[in-house]
Amino acid sequence: MIEIRDVSKRYDTALVVDGVSLTLPKGGVTSIIGPNGAGKSTLLSMISRLLPIDTGSVTIDGLDVTRTPGDVLARRLSILRQDNAMTVRLTVRDLVAFGRYPHSKGRMTVVDRQKIEEALAYLALEPLADSFLDEISGGQRQRAFVAMVLAQDTDVMLFDEPLNNLDIRHAAGMMRLIRKATADLDKTVMVVLHDINFASCHSDRIIAMKDGKVFAEGPPAQIVTRKVLEPLYETTFDVRTIDGKAIAFYFA
Ligand SMILES: Nc1ncnc2c1ncn2[C@@H]1O[C@H](COP(=O)(O)OP(=O)(O)OP(=O)(O)O)[C@@H](O)[C@H]1O
Ligand SMILES: [Mg+2]
Repeated sequence: MIEIRDVSKRYDTALVVDGVSLTLPKGGVTSIIGPNGAGKSTLLSMISRLLPIDTGSVTIDGLDVTRTPGDVLARRLSILRQDNAMTVRLTVRDLVAFGRYPHSKGRMTVVDRQKIEEALAYLALEPLADSFLDEISGGQRQRAFVAMVLAQDTDVMLFDEPLNNLDIRHAAGMMRLIRKATADLDKTVMVVLHDINFASCHSDRIIAMKDGKVFAEGPPAQIVTRKVLEPLYETTFDVRTIDGKAIAFYFA
């Protein structure tokens, strides 16, 4: 279970995450939606301790993230960041192997190698495993970073815009994979998405953020509504139910 209690983050005078409290049960997919600058990435960064929390607290299964040793937390929680700039030249397999570091500490076991190969296979990256990250496409690179997160095999996985650069088939495949990981392996996933309909079709619950605050939260049918989406994005929507899923339409 993830408990977020009254968490805030300020940059100079700007309060970019403003008193967010959320309780996420173990298991399932929680999507975070909301406009650019809403504070989605900042919140995920604080949960994963990439950024210090100004006020409030985050616990994962009772472990306070700011007080838990780094290697203990790294075996519980992994994150795909929105921007994955790499300065060193690595192959896809090297990158995925990096994900095993909290487990292997540089001494790779049979299990570590198995997790790496499984993650490569999950993302259909075997043909590219020995390619360098700067010599593959943006979408292929995105899949390699997701494979790195999967290889970590943590209970909690946070994905910040994992569908970036992916074509429709790979985006749908990625969402199915995320769902499968929660269903088969009992993982807890938080995922930032800009595609409302992927969020609607593949989430157990949706958190909508705006101006650093939780604007609305609930099951997709409660969030993917004109009542929530129009003030959230300050845009006109049409929402239809198709095959039991709320689908949002938006036009220029
Ligand atoms: N390092 C920083 N210094 C100052 N301001 C920052 C910093 N990082 C983020 N911000 C500001 O904090 C706010 C929230 O940013 P954040 O990246 O969390 O938004 P987001 O919801 O993830 O948006 P997007 O959908 O564009 O990724 C923005 O107004 C942004 O300009
Ligand atoms: Mg972001």
